Amino acid sequence: MSYRIHSFEEYQSVYKNSVENPEQFWADIAKQFHWYKPWESVLEWEFKTPSVAWFKGGKTNITYNCLDRHLKTRGDEVAILWEPNNPENDAIRLTYQQLYEEVCRTANALKSLGIGKGDRVCFYMPMVPELAIAVLACARIGAIHSIVFAGFSAQSLADRINDSACKAVICSDFNARGNKNIPVKKVVDEAIAIGCPSIEKVLVLQHTGDPVTWNAETDIWWHDIVPNQPATCEPTEMDAEDMLFILYTSGSTGKPKGVVHTVGGYMVYAGYTFENVFQYNEGDIYWCTADVGWITGHSYIIYGPLLNGATSLMFEGVPTFPDAGRFWEICEKHKVNIFYTAPTAIRALMAAGDQWTENHDLSSLRVLGSVGEPINAEAWHWYDEKIGKCRCPIVDTWWQTETGGILISPLAGLTPLKPTFATLPLPGVQPCLVDASGNEIEGNDVEGMLCMKFPWPGIIRTTYDDHQRCKQTYFATFENKYFTGDGARRDSDGYYRIIGRVDDVINVSGHRIGTAEVENAINEHPLVVESAVVGFPHEIKGQGIYAYVILDGMVPDEPTFKKELLATVTRIIGPIAKPDEIQIVSGLPKTRSGKIMRRILRKIAEGDTSSLGDTSTLLNPEVVVEIKDGAKR
Ligand code: WT7
Repeated sequence: MSYRIHSFEEYQSVYKNSVENPEQFWADIAKQFHWYKPWESVLEWEFKTPSVAWFKGGKTNITYNCLDRHLKTRGDEVAILWEPNNPENDAIRLTYQQLYEEVCRTANALKSLGIGKGDRVCFYMPMVPELAIAVLACARIGAIHSIVFAGFSAQSLADRINDSACKAVICSDFNARGNKNIPVKKVVDEAIAIGCPSIEKVLVLQHTGDPVTWNAETDIWWHDIVPNQPATCEPTEMDAEDMLFILYTSGSTGKPKGVVHTVGGYMVYAGYTFENVFQYNEGDIYWCTADVGWITGHSYIIYGPLLNGATSLMFEGVPTFPDAGRFWEICEKHKVNIFYTAPTAIRALMAAGDQWTENHDLSSLRVLGSVGEPINAEAWHWYDEKIGKCRCPIVDTWWQTETGGILISPLAGLTPLKPTFATLPLPGVQPCLVDASGNEIEGNDVEGMLCMKFPWPGIIRTTYDDHQRCKQTYFATFENKYFTGDGARRDSDGYYRIIGRVDDVINVSGHRIGTAEVENAINEHPLVVESAVVGFPHEIKGQGIYAYVILDGMVPDEPTFKKELLATVTRIIGPIAKPDEIQIVSGLPKTRSGKIMRRILRKIAEGDTSSLGDTSTLLNPEVVVEIKDGAKR
């Protein structure tokens, strides 16, 4: 594409221009996509309501841009290269032509189920080609996808289905992960049993073939309705600001919220950032190890790569099956050129030992990426030395579910790197640091809360069915700014280093978990009176979950109670939210107004009790001594 940046100097001039003439800048990029009808205005925005519209009045379909547009030029090239969980099974290659046909068939099947423009469709699926196919099928007919990571509980699934009143769920029978087959259809059945009145149909992909219970009223096998459909389906013309998808994410308060992205801006942003950050070249094999259940999979397994006509490798399994060399075996087998993963995976594989990296030919690798949490120096250097053999740039990409695509990152091979720094904003991105009273901190060598002062095309438009919440969470903290929830440092070169969340959100293995959500789940246990959850540094996960719980009376058997508590959290949220440490306490440190002093609890969980500060103003200072003495770390 001609929006490709080729040097650091070019980046600097493009950046300057993008800030001075943002509308012209993004219009020039957007023009390189296919539009049925051009937009009437490039950008209308204000951050008070907030109200942001990119390419208003423009009509497009993202799947036309991901598929149809490539058929003449690269119809026979591989769009999706699927590597199964079990390395003894064959990989699957879907060319652009084949993917196009599969998407059309599935789109027709969805239509036959009565699904159309604006309907919400929930996904609870393994990492199989049909997931990408069905996601694109929704986008083709204007249905809004809401993908739920298949590790969430039935309760979490039901909450998400109900929040956006999804009409259908698409799932598999079982998911194959490592040496386990996980009953996914069963979880969907349980969610529906909890109560999902909006669900009319459950489309089930037979994947492992293990037996499932069947509800003839709602359930339909994929193989009964998809393969016999016609292989063409006209894309529905979508307004640039029509919803493309909802993706639920956790915050510091209440239930997860449905982040909404719209068709036009998201498309332009995912396409532009994919090519430039990874410096993708025609013919490259690109592999992002994320799950499509998270935003990384949406933007950088499906949409970003396909918009650029790339080959996107999709891996069903886990990094440690059959052994800790699996990632590197796959890189060798498929001659991967661009590899994008999370620090938690790097740390886990680093801990497994260097021997797993040594017997694989990694010479095809050209670019490495990192995403999801701050990457520590040790992991950065291991990645650089053992995987990149000191010849592959590492792009540490900072972004969020709400940003749609990468905002701060090096451009691979162009931006001079500094380990642990996400470095510089992408063109069109205007970050700033703000102090506690909301004043922008100018100059370099400073630290503050990371905000954005100007919209980019991929910015969140609303939180589903609750615009107030969107305003409250992101646009009300600081006037006229989008607040990220992260703290950051800007060094003497103007480079950004992300420090981590400044709100009550824990980043566990690159996954966002709200402390309030975990507390609510813990409080469901009949013996629990009150709880407080904080994060603490964890060697592999980045952050672990530390729970302080007050019980109703004595606990007969502590290990049994703790097991039950973990089961409760698993049942309500899912295994990813299980506390790593549970400390039973008789009270929680509170201010005179009854607020839990999380700062103190965080310090104790970190094992740093030397600087708890003045505790004498607490309502119950004596409890601090008790908590310190009983600390698990
Ligand atoms: C939060 C967003 C972005 C897709 C995956 C996570 C943290 C993300 C980085 C990075 C430091 C990072 C931030 C952010 N984060 N990438 N490169 N360096 N921190 O998406 O679940 O929406 O979480 O992840 O704290 O706010 P998410």
